[in-house]
Amino acid sequence: MKTMLVTAGPTRERVDPVRFISNYSTGVFGYEIARQARRAGFKVTLVSGPTALEDPEGVKVVRVVSALEMRRAVLKEFGPCDAVVMAAAVGDWRVRSLSKNKIKRGGSVTLELAENPDILAELGRKKGKRVLVGFALESGSLEGNARRKLLRKNLDMIVANRVSPGRDVFGEVRTDVLVIDRSGGKKVFRGRTKREIAKFIIDKVRTYL
Ligand code: CTP
Repeated sequence: MKTMLVTAGPTRERVDPVRFISNYSTGVFGYEIARQARRAGFKVTLVSGPTALEDPEGVKVVRVVSALEMRRAVLKEFGPCDAVVMAAAVGDWRVRSLSKNKIKRGGSVTLELAENPDILAELGRKKGKRVLVGFALESGSLEGNARRKLLRKNLDMIVANRVSPGRDVFGEVRTDVLVIDRSGGKKVFRGRTKREIAKFIIDKVRTYL
């Protein structure tokens, strides 16, 4: 049985005991990929940031909160796996100094942010024979930026999605994506469900294994 590691959802970066910085990711896409991978016969581990979704049946779920916790969990599961799909919206920055006490109001506050490690790029450097799939959210040139990310992170496939004001790509929505593979092949999906796209991704990964 082949093993697949999937990541999903946002990460949360703690500011103080009651506040955090995060993003709008819901985890729907990654959970669907985990579900379809399981249906296709993979042994699946899902490393998930905070979501409101139920654990997919037959999938080992590891829940994490921050990007550093996600990195640790992913590296732990990475060894024995044959394929990785990084669908998580990993926060690019964390708050440099976590406040132990709730920050009191009284004027403006400045948070200093430190850069988080790029988990996928790190996996790209260690990939060996594994199949590696990344996602890209772009507000500029979709295809150009996605191709650059595919090369820079040493991926086999990238699933690129456009973000722009007023265009909801988060949650249970039909979506447009561009999938580019390592040999330059591309496929455009317009107004398709995340389930349909997830099935395509899993089928494509299987052709690489
Ligand atoms: N990713 C990651 N670790 C990060 C940031 C992103 O592993 N710290 C992964 C995501 O899971 C996704 C891919 O990298 O599969 C692309 O994420 P994206 O946010 O589009 O790109 P970035 O590399 O953060 O580049 P930029 O934000 O500058 O476009």
